[in-house]
Amino acid sequence: MGPRLEREIRVFPDPTREAEAAARHLAAQARAAVRARGRFSWVLAGGRTPEALYQLLARRWRSRFPWEETEILFGDERCVGPRDPESNYAMAREALLAHVPIPRRQVHRLRGELRPASKAAEDYARLIGRAPPTGAPPRFDTVLLGLGPDGHTASLFPGAPALRERTRMVVSVPRAGHPPWVPRLSLTLPALASSREVVFLVEGSEKAATVARVLRAGPRGNSKLPASMVRSAGPVRWFLDRAAAARVPRTSSGMRPPPRE
Ligand code: 6PG
Repeated sequence: MGPRLEREIRVFPDPTREAEAAARHLAAQARAAVRARGRFSWVLAGGRTPEALYQLLARRWRSRFPWEETEILFGDERCVGPRDPESNYAMAREALLAHVPIPRRQVHRLRGELRPASKAAEDYARLIGRAPPTGAPPRFDTVLLGLGPDGHTASLFPGAPALRERTRMVVSVPRAGHPPWVPRLSLTLPALASSREVVFLVEGSEKAATVARVLRAGPRGNSKLPASMVRSAGPVRWFLDRAAAARVPRTSSGMRPPPRE
């Protein structure tokens, strides 16, 4: 299966029900992956939005998720230490990883503290391996992503050279296009595409215009909106609260009424 754009949009009345539905979806995907392949390979998103989802998984879903068979990776990281409050790993550890029985050897963080950052990118690329050839099984089961107001995702910012990367799976990003203004490490579009599904988790009215622009972008995406360029070997799923979906036309393909939660 090569990268394609099979899009699914789910809208929820509020962030709480959005996070509950996302937790339910991830648990189902994890159980199915373990049944089929003995492992669930999950790329975590950074930023603020996924924190409530991670806390929910650590608490209400702790006993209903195959943590022992889960492999955790990160879509991007700020070039700071693992205990820095700006670290995506630090947020995920505090909200989720410190509270669930995932074997430590199955949590692979991007080493933001390493210098030069290009070495951290090369090390991580060696860990995750090269993009499998078209038709070969994707590297990741689920890639979870957020969306910045400028259309960035992971640490792929509008106009960044990283958007033109077609072979490397991980790159260092010297200039962030969004706070925190620190250099970053990011999976590239070929890496994100090596997934059985991508899940965007987006909430809030401040994202509504960007969500609508991303979902309107044509089949080749729009380099001003990196999120519109994200592909997957499977579906690209959008979990939105009503505020973030406010500008998405009701007729958008794949738009479903909020499920009865
Ligand atoms: C990061 C994230 C970034 C994030 C968006 C949305 O390192 O900041 O990877 O891509 O997902 O900026 O961030 P919020 O969820 O905080 O709005």
